[in-house]
Amino acid sequence: MAQFPSDFDWGFATASYQIEGSASLGGRGPSIWDTFCKLPGKIRDGSSGEVATDSVRLYKEDVALLKSYNVKAYRFSISWSRMIPLGGRDDPVNPEGIAFYRSLLEELLRNGITPYVTLYHWDLPQGLHDRYGGWLDKEEIVKDYVNYAKLCFDSFGHLVKNWITHNEPWVISCLGYQKGVFAPGHESNTEPWIVAHNAILAHAYAVKLYREQYKPVQGGQIGITLDCHWQIPYDDSPENIEAAKKGIDFKLGRFADPIYKGYYPERVKKIIDDRLPEFTEEELAVVKGSSDFFGLNTYTSQLVQEGGTDETNGYITVGHTRPDGTQLGTVGAKNICVVNPPGFRSLLNYLWKTYQKPIYVTENGFAVKDEHKMTISEALRDKDRIEYFEGYANAMLQAVTEDGVPVKGYFGWSLLDNFEWADGYEARFGVTYVDYATQKRYPKESAQFLSKWFPEHTSA
Ligand code: BGC
Repeated sequence: MAQFPSDFDWGFATASYQIEGSASLGGRGPSIWDTFCKLPGKIRDGSSGEVATDSVRLYKEDVALLKSYNVKAYRFSISWSRMIPLGGRDDPVNPEGIAFYRSLLEELLRNGITPYVTLYHWDLPQGLHDRYGGWLDKEEIVKDYVNYAKLCFDSFGHLVKNWITHNEPWVISCLGYQKGVFAPGHESNTEPWIVAHNAILAHAYAVKLYREQYKPVQGGQIGITLDCHWQIPYDDSPENIEAAKKGIDFKLGRFADPIYKGYYPERVKKIIDDRLPEFTEEELAVVKGSSDFFGLNTYTSQLVQEGGTDETNGYITVGHTRPDGTQLGTVGAKNICVVNPPGFRSLLNYLWKTYQKPIYVTENGFAVKDEHKMTISEALRDKDRIEYFEGYANAMLQAVTEDGVPVKGYFGWSLLDNFEWADGYEARFGVTYVDYATQKRYPKESAQFLSKWFPEHTSA
């Protein structure tokens, strides 16, 4: 039977604001998501991450669940404002926050689970947003981010060998500053390009610091996680073939090309023109080559047609209905939930061919349609999610064993149902059902499936 090599890591991923709760407890300062959730109409069910899955209190239960699922690794993110409540380099740190993450890390390690730690999964300290506009101020945010990263390396670097700087800078910039549907809710056609540029710089300077001062002693690796859905031309017309390439450049190339190759993609430059900031020579030297691996979050594939009004994707139109009316795959709770394993295999091949870096799939998962309306026992029989994971895991195995793509790890999204951003609690991505009234956790059938599938398909 085809298998991953023995050092292949697999597990589940989560993010601080989506699971931690205790948002106003333990000395944590507010983040832009706490503020955004209070704006009327922004969150579908009017909820917030104030309690979420209460994981600051229940983290030992979460680790026990991970253990029961036979995982080798767990990816979670640190809340910047739990570490430094106001966020800045001259602001006080929060000893309780440091102690919490240390306990979580120790609990993971005691259970033989390797931590993968994300520094930034969208929860910017509100203090920095108020002080100077957060991601919009290059000089300030880069210094404050690097200072925050340093605190994390100092506090946890002896326990953590896998660091991820940012989760999905496309979402940070486009959904936060262009479409206004995520925190901080800005709508602009200049800000997203500034924010993205500054996020790349903050990432790169944190990596520089890690490589110079920590890696030689701690021996870990550090990289960034980008998101992309595989882009399939709607038909074989030359313009739709070109549109699919443009779709990838606007979603992924705009970050990956500077980071792995040292320049912005031509297709992006052509449309964004002088709204696209430039790197100085000195910055470019830090940005180029600033990721040890390719962190990929991917959920589905999209059919792409040229034309449309959306600048975040370069004026293309995406969907999942083929010209003959059939769907790309089983459809779930959101437009990013459509089962299409062949697209995943193509994407992995594309990334390896284009960027030549080992790949970690840092998120991949599926929310079953209407699961939030089901009874617990109905939700536990999540056959569409099993179809998804079975298809994606096999496609990845083929990419590794047949195509020679070096995928080194895989994290299902998510360990638990959790606060799904603007969808509140109305989309459930977990392999574990969370009854929010009691905070009781119930493994879904997909959890059982994956806990067997990966050990069976990884050599000892
Ligand atoms: C994000 C997660 C989110 C998931 C499902 C990813 O883009 O990193 O935080 O919950 O998608 O929407």
